[in-house]
Amino acid sequence: MMSVAAWLTGAGAALAAGAAGVWWTRFARLLPAERALARAAALAERRGAFALALLRTRRAAPTPAALAEAAQAAADAFLERFAGVDLFAWTRRGPLGGTATGDGELLLRTGRLEAMEGGGLAVPEEWWDAAFAAGAAVVWTPDAAGLRRTVLRPWGARGRVWGLLGAASGLGEEDFTIVHSGALDELAAHLDACAERAAQLWELEKARAELAAGLDGAMRRLDETNVQLIRRAKEVRTFQEVTDAITKNPEHAGVLAAIVSIIASALEADLCAFLLLDEATGELVTQPGAFGLSHDEGALYRLALANDQSSSVRVFKTGEPFITADAQNDPLVIARYARLWGCHSLVVVPLTLEGRRIGVLRVGSFKKSFFTADHVQFVSILAEEAAVLVESAMLSRKLADSNRRLAEMHRIKDDFVSTVSHEFKTPLTSILGFLAVILEGEAGPLEPEQRRFLSIVRGSAQRLSELVSDILDLSKLEEGVEIESKPFDLAAAARKVVDDSRWRADEKGIELAVEAPEALPRALGSERWLSQVLENLLSNALKFSRSGGKVSVILAHKGEGLQATVADAGIGIPEADQPRIFEKFFRASNRDATGASGTGLGLAICRHIVDRHNGRIWFESSSGAGTRFHFVVPTSRAVTPAPEAAS
Ligand SMILES: Nc1ncnc2c1ncn2[C@@H]1O[C@H](COP(=O)(O)OP(=O)(O)OP(=O)(O)O)[C@@H](O)[C@H]1O
Ligand SMILES: [Mg+2]
Repeated sequence: MMSVAAWLTGAGAALAAGAAGVWWTRFARLLPAERALARAAALAERRGAFALALLRTRRAAPTPAALAEAAQAAADAFLERFAGVDLFAWTRRGPLGGTATGDGELLLRTGRLEAMEGGGLAVPEEWWDAAFAAGAAVVWTPDAAGLRRTVLRPWGARGRVWGLLGAASGLGEEDFTIVHSGALDELAAHLDACAERAAQLWELEKARAELAAGLDGAMRRLDETNVQLIRRAKEVRTFQEVTDAITKNPEHAGVLAAIVSIIASALEADLCAFLLLDEATGELVTQPGAFGLSHDEGALYRLALANDQSSSVRVFKTGEPFITADAQNDPLVIARYARLWGCHSLVVVPLTLEGRRIGVLRVGSFKKSFFTADHVQFVSILAEEAAVLVESAMLSRKLADSNRRLAEMHRIKDDFVSTVSHEFKTPLTSILGFLAVILEGEAGPLEPEQRRFLSIVRGSAQRLSELVSDILDLSKLEEGVEIESKPFDLAAAARKVVDDSRWRADEKGIELAVEAPEALPRALGSERWLSQVLENLLSNALKFSRSGGKVSVILAHKGEGLQATVADAGIGIPEADQPRIFEKFFRASNRDATGASGTGLGLAICRHIVDRHNGRIWFESSSGAGTRFHFVVPTSRAVTPAPEAAS
């Protein structure tokens, strides 16, 4: 029999043995597992909190500073959760977003590393190599506290490594190799994201800078173009004004004055003058009308071409423009003239026409250093354009001068001719008068021979008298003698003229007739002058007809005018001579065919008279086939309606 005590003991022992098993299980097996679980939970919580913190830092503003701050904040968040770890990040590209390359620089560092010198923190090359090769690496380094373990992870963006991220801890620290390396990956991914945004930012910045540079260039070019455009517009306007001035004012002095004043105002200059070569004296002469110079001084200012002291002479000889900032103190300028006109700044450019130098253009200012190279260019272009105008102005002045002289000579000649003719008239009248008396035998009987000679004398005196009358008539008409105008019977006037000429027609055996309708309106004009037209035309028709022909004076009412025609069957007017037939003193090439004399004034007088009646005179003729001269003058009805017509 087992004793109670023994059972108790046995039971007790059994119980004791059972309790010990529970304790063993609890302490030896469960507790470590529970602890590991708790640690894992805590780590998971830290990882979660870290991930959350990273998420928050992702919202960094897109600036390099904010991105660097975000990277730092992420590192801080890491360290907060994983104490005892030293963290560093290297970059080989300078700060985020930068472009520098080199040995690399430290982007962030923490813990014990913060106290270390930069050099001590240099990442050895083999670390870079190891990390790049494997994508991540664990390296061991000896440390004061034993061996030190560093986890390395490259980071970057756009497929390129920008740097290394490292987390280091001593051996005694928590084993973060397994757990923390995940967190380190997350941190690296965060740096990657920052790098990516920095890269975008950097590219954006680069594009902006390029755009700005391009824009700057474009603006600069636009500015330059603008300046050129404004200058060109000013030049064009100046040229326009110069040309206008010339069209409006063809007088030489007026043109030059207009040009210089336009140039002066375009350049805001105080003085402007053309100095043109006087070929007769070999001097450069300031032209009248110079801007800012008094006329007297300007007219007196002459420079001998031998005077090389003068800037104008040198410019004239070399064709090179000259500019000075202060003419009064420049040894290259004759200071006397500069002082005379108070001129400081001075530009002188050559005036060249088709390779021939005709003078210079001087532009001055009372201010010092007023003109620039731009001004010189502008004045040179102006001078180039102006040279043609200056030359043509000079030519037109010469032309006007010689025209004036010619007109004066004409006037003197006309005066002379009319005076002489006038002086001829009285003696001729008395010669003809006395000849008539002698020929009629009132001074005693004449021998036939004497009569013949005296008849010849009378014929010549007659011709001389007609010539004198023609000259006097023409000069009266040219001077615009008043022509009285009243209605008269043109047919009656024609009959009278014909009757007066009949003896000449009879002499040549020419039949002479007047053909006029019964009811012909009266002509309006001067009977005396229009009779002279008829007389001249009839005289020609008789002179230039051969014996035995026929000459008719035909009158007709044509529209509002009366037309008179003098027709002959004579020698005609050669076609080549027809255009000049009304010119003074012109006589056709066949004029001698009938042995007729004349001076060529008759038709010129006719045209003057008809013109003064507002009429028209013309002819039809061909060599050898006769001539028909026509003229038309107004009828009195055309001007004053007859009383019956008016009522
Ligand atoms: N009817 C005509 N037939 C042929 N030639 C004519 C006729 N009328 C004029 N002419 C030509 O025209 C020229 C000019 O005529 P115009 O009457 O002006 O001068 P003229 O008769 O020679 O001299 P003037 O009339 O001064 O005595 C004449 O010389 C002649 O050659
Ligand atoms: Mg005549």
